[in-house]
Amino acid sequence: MQAQLVTVDMVDEIAIVRVDNPPVNATSTAMRIGLLDAVHEVEQLGALAAILIGKGRTFIAGGDMSEFDAPPVEPHLPDVVQAIEDSSVPFIAAMHGNVLGGGLEIAMGCAWRIALEGTKFGMPEVNVGLIPGAGGTQRLPRLVGTKLALDMCANGTMIKAEEFYSAGGVDLIVAANLEIEAIVFAKKNKCRPSKICTRTALQCSAEELELARTQIEKKARGRQAPLLNFEAVQWSAEPFNVGQPKERSLHLELRQSDESKALRHAFFAERSVAKPSVIHGVHPLEIKKVVVVGGGLMGSGIATSLLNAGKIVTLIERDESACEQAIQRVEQNLTAAEKRGLITSEQQLARLKLFTTTLDYRDSNGHDLAIEAVFEDVAVKRKVFNSLGKFMDEDAILATNTSYLDPQNIFEGIANPERCVGLHFFSPAHIMKLLEVIYLPQTSAQTVSTAFALAKTLRKTAVLSGICDGFIGNRILAAYRREAEFLLADGALPEEVDQAMRDFGMAMGPFEAQDMSGLQIAWANRKLQAQTRNPNMRYVTIADHLCEIERFGQHSGKGWYDYPSGPKSKVASEDVTNIIEDYSTANNITRRNYSNDEIADRLLAIIANEGALIVEEGIAENAAAVDVVKLHGYGFPRWRGGPMHFALQHKRKAFSQILKQSAAESGETYLIAAAFRD
Ligand code: NAI
Repeated sequence: MQAQLVTVDMVDEIAIVRVDNPPVNATSTAMRIGLLDAVHEVEQLGALAAILIGKGRTFIAGGDMSEFDAPPVEPHLPDVVQAIEDSSVPFIAAMHGNVLGGGLEIAMGCAWRIALEGTKFGMPEVNVGLIPGAGGTQRLPRLVGTKLALDMCANGTMIKAEEFYSAGGVDLIVAANLEIEAIVFAKKNKCRPSKICTRTALQCSAEELELARTQIEKKARGRQAPLLNFEAVQWSAEPFNVGQPKERSLHLELRQSDESKALRHAFFAERSVAKPSVIHGVHPLEIKKVVVVGGGLMGSGIATSLLNAGKIVTLIERDESACEQAIQRVEQNLTAAEKRGLITSEQQLARLKLFTTTLDYRDSNGHDLAIEAVFEDVAVKRKVFNSLGKFMDEDAILATNTSYLDPQNIFEGIANPERCVGLHFFSPAHIMKLLEVIYLPQTSAQTVSTAFALAKTLRKTAVLSGICDGFIGNRILAAYRREAEFLLADGALPEEVDQAMRDFGMAMGPFEAQDMSGLQIAWANRKLQAQTRNPNMRYVTIADHLCEIERFGQHSGKGWYDYPSGPKSKVASEDVTNIIEDYSTANNITRRNYSNDEIADRLLAIIANEGALIVEEGIAENAAAVDVVKLHGYGFPRWRGGPMHFALQHKRKAFSQILKQSAAESGETYLIAAAFRD
């Protein structure tokens, strides 16, 4: 039998209504039934007041999204909130942890709200493409004013208890003993305030509204939910019994929207990839001390990320000056965090105290993990692990940050290969959320489990990947760039391709992104692949040509674009247009025009196809893993759900056609995945 999710106890004529629906007390159907029963029960008991409190780590932290695909089931949340608000027994929400979405809507049905210090409040429905559906957009402005309500609903901004108190959102903040304090409060406060639904919302001025709209629109970048939240909050100027039904019906409509389905998919995809089947039931090792080898761009970022998580870090470099540079980079990273208000200067100092550099591999002794981030050269990397192997414990985990090399070659001959793994960070490593965890055939489940646990402490999203050229993310990137270059050869220009992908919602187009990161690494990789490249593949040499004439991207002042006065001065390049057109002529290609949609569809089809191949080859556990990699490492728009979700939900047929045609024109460049073949 299911344990009771809502219980009622009496303490001195005060009812304690306890909700217990781990992990976050979500407002599932069973919970809503329990709450409604509790309202009736406290009335029957003749309680003087009822204290609504959450068991576990939080008050009610939102709705149960797993129910959102099905038609809504009674009792509906707005009715539960209304029953609480209309009850003859005044309710007091006693809150701790996160009071989010449906949780905050329920709290606003209560007569009073008291919170433990540190409690956070928010309306995160916008993050899953929705508006609140149980009076949130209507009661919140009536409680704290339209300005703050707009920020919370349309931007999804979370508010700390102290700020929420200042705005009138809570009546009391307590430092401890929430339940006892709530009972004391209940006994003292007999004069019930007016119901929030009957109050008038403090409206913004026309200028404030216009400013808020502009900011929300700018941030939305193609999403519809932020502006719909903006609109819904303004319905609070109308009577509650007009605004609330409008809110409810839009909420239900949005549950069926592509945007909300995509954002919900992203949410569940992240949860599923965080626990790949191989680590179920496997306990991770504890990681306290980490060696980072190489303190260049990646090594210093990785070290910063580890320091931010409180790890002791020893960084090994080649010479004193490289050590100095590594220290400077780490200091710069931490200073930037301090300047942005993310850490205090005391925290910055404390983190630096955990950090040392050395030239001596003996100092790796006693560390739990080593992460190598030296030059992308298998011989150099092997030497590093041989040296580490001499001094580190036999069970210390050894990780490489290689981008393209086969970790099996790097770890060849290492004792206890089950401890070897790839930890592929993304640049800048202390900021980017994605971490690809690359397993070798010998890697143990415990090593993988430890890598995933470490990712969590570094606040990163880990995705498991098998071995292939570029692993999940860079392999798809290579296919994407290759096809984008085919488009150039066939008639498009870089600025048109970039525009089409930005219009789709990508943070950047493929060519401006290459200019930002530099063209050399991919060029070096293509040169390496040249000897083994299938001559029947289509290969376009425009990017190689740009590198040969030292158009390496932003840092060299020219790349796919010109940068006459620095990285922000990007303009389309006539020279590049000429190079592209000359290439088409030399290869007897009749250039044609492409529409934005054609460009986007062709590139998205290629991305999805490569992703599907990666799943079919068993490199990624499932399509969700591919989606998470592209969302967190490559600027794919979250509100599209990820390339696999987008393609398989909306474009399977269209993409199959595109792939058939493009593959036929591209020799033996790529296979069409089964997902798009049948
Ligand atoms: P980098 O050139 O900025 O840094 C490499 C550092 O390793 C240098 O500071 C160098 O002095 C040091 N080093 C070289 N040999 C060494 C040795 N034997 N012992 C100790 N230190 C040594 O290179 P970057 O960009 O940091 O890349 C490092 C690794 O990370 C490469 O394998 C690269 O493929 C990979 N990677 C790079 C990404 C990027 O965006 N740059 C992204 C993800 C992975």
